[in-house]
Amino acid sequence: MTRSAPLAGDAGDVRFSPAASRCVMTQIVMPEHTNGTAGVMFGGVMMQWIDVCAGVAAMRHAGGSVVTASIDRLDFITPVHVGEVVVLQAQVNYVSRTSMEVGCRVETEEMATRRRRYTTKAYLTFVSLGPDHEPRPVPALELVTDDDRRRHAEAEHRRAERLRAAGRVRGATPQPKDGAS
Ligand SMILES: CC(C)(COP(=O)(O)OP(=O)(O)OC[C@H]1O[C@@H](n2cnc3c(N)ncnc32)[C@H](O)[C@@H]1OP(=O)(O)O)[C@@H](O)C(=O)NCCC(=O)NCCS
Repeated sequence: MTRSAPLAGDAGDVRFSPAASRCVMTQIVMPEHTNGTAGVMFGGVMMQWIDVCAGVAAMRHAGGSVVTASIDRLDFITPVHVGEVVVLQAQVNYVSRTSMEVGCRVETEEMATRRRRYTTKAYLTFVSLGPDHEPRPVPALELVTDDDRRRHAEAEHRRAERLRAAGRVRGATPQPKDGAS
């Protein structure tokens, strides 16, 4: 398999593959993670876990501090219940100059059958910060596998749409999120 040229980033010769940033985080849903209704897990707790798992992937790639700049739309496909084991997997899909898109896939794991159940996925944008707390260039991303290339191409489209919606493209005005007035 041929390796592609490193993409974006602006931190000298340093470059890392998406796999180098991968973070796998496993949690057990405890009673305090539920909303009290039939032991269903709080969406907000899941969002926090996603932010942490994806944030670690971003920090690994950046080699330092990051902040969450945005989280794309999040759909919870099936409920997660108390006692279930939740596996979150995140890795960097795309880098620009100082920002990175990280994809995070969430599954529940059933020990008896060894089956995984897809619960949700999210795309988050993190910005690398330097010691002065200003945005800092990130290392380039080296795409190694066909999946890396597919994720990167899809992420490029999402970034364009995200920046347009945030009013960060010349001539665009910020769009309200779904459900916001
Ligand atoms: C994210 C933040 C550092 C960007 O600062 P800024 O002054 O807009 O900096 P810049 O204009 O130089 O943009 C820096 C990068 O952020 C990206 N960015 C900024 N806002 C973004 C958004 N809403 N969505 C996606 N990317 C965004 C820019 O595209 C740029 O990426 P690039 O360098 O790879 O092209 C700043 O808005 C911030 O500190 N936000 C608060 C972060 C935070 O507290 N998060 C936790 C929330 S509880």
